[in-house]
Amino acid sequence: MAFLIDRCFEKVRLVPENYFGERVAERYDESTADRFDPAVVGPTVNFLAELAGAGRALELGIGTGRIALPLAERGVQVHGIDLSEAMVAKLEAKPGAERIGVTIGDFASTRVEGTFSLAYLVFNTINNLTTQDAQVACFENVAAHLEPGGCFVIEVGVPTGKPLRVFDLNDTHVGVDEYDAATQRLVSHHFSLVDGNWERLSIPFRSVSPAELDLMARLAGMTLRERWADWDRAPFTSESTKHVSVWEKPNPSS
Ligand SMILES: C[S@@+](CC[C@H](N)C(=O)[O-])C[C@H]1O[C@@H](n2cnc3c(N)ncnc32)[C@H](O)[C@@H]1O
Repeated sequence: MAFLIDRCFEKVRLVPENYFGERVAERYDESTADRFDPAVVGPTVNFLAELAGAGRALELGIGTGRIALPLAERGVQVHGIDLSEAMVAKLEAKPGAERIGVTIGDFASTRVEGTFSLAYLVFNTINNLTTQDAQVACFENVAAHLEPGGCFVIEVGVPTGKPLRVFDLNDTHVGVDEYDAATQRLVSHHFSLVDGNWERLSIPFRSVSPAELDLMARLAGMTLRERWADWDRAPFTSESTKHVSVWEKPNPSS
């Protein structure tokens, strides 16, 4: 039952497409305002700061700095990678951005100088990599950046299995996920009312199960350390709709 999914995937190329250009960056913070709520950001930052300890943190897909800025404010040295200059320009215009280094590039392959005690990828951003190869490469890239004993954290939804799912419905935005279980392709369609006109933005993703992520971690030489249903460490169960997972790079000296 394919609606627009095949047409959206026709655009997927080897060099990742930037779906976060000027128009998206302009409205990103406003359109994801619920994610900027201190009740969401606080537990996320607490969780990540604890894992980073005295080391450096690498955010993959740093965006406008929703998590990186408050994490840096907590004293953690943060570096980010992002494909979108427009999103990073929004980050750089915010107070505290001078503490954060950013490298423009694809987080599946871009290398940054130095090593990190923590790498993290939040808000379903692993799904922005639309092939299994790219997701595996991302784990390998992270492992190459981590110190022995360092951790990789991913926050991502559990695949629903539903071909169509309305994930948002209000006066100015309708969000519909279209999913093909056979290929794990997922397209999030956003219909937004902007200046009196409805605009459609369809972003392709690759949905991935917790077990497949564990295997990717294993391929990259890391092992699962913790898996929770949320940042407050609620137990992960078969009812959980998302997970926060932590994989660890082994430390041969411990
Ligand atoms: C949903 S936003 C999340 C931004 C931020 N982490 C947050 O939580 O608000 C996804 C971000 O990942 C970036 N991104 C997507 N695919 C990427 C890739 N392959 N390499 C680097 N950045 C990517 C986008 O440009 C965007 O800034």
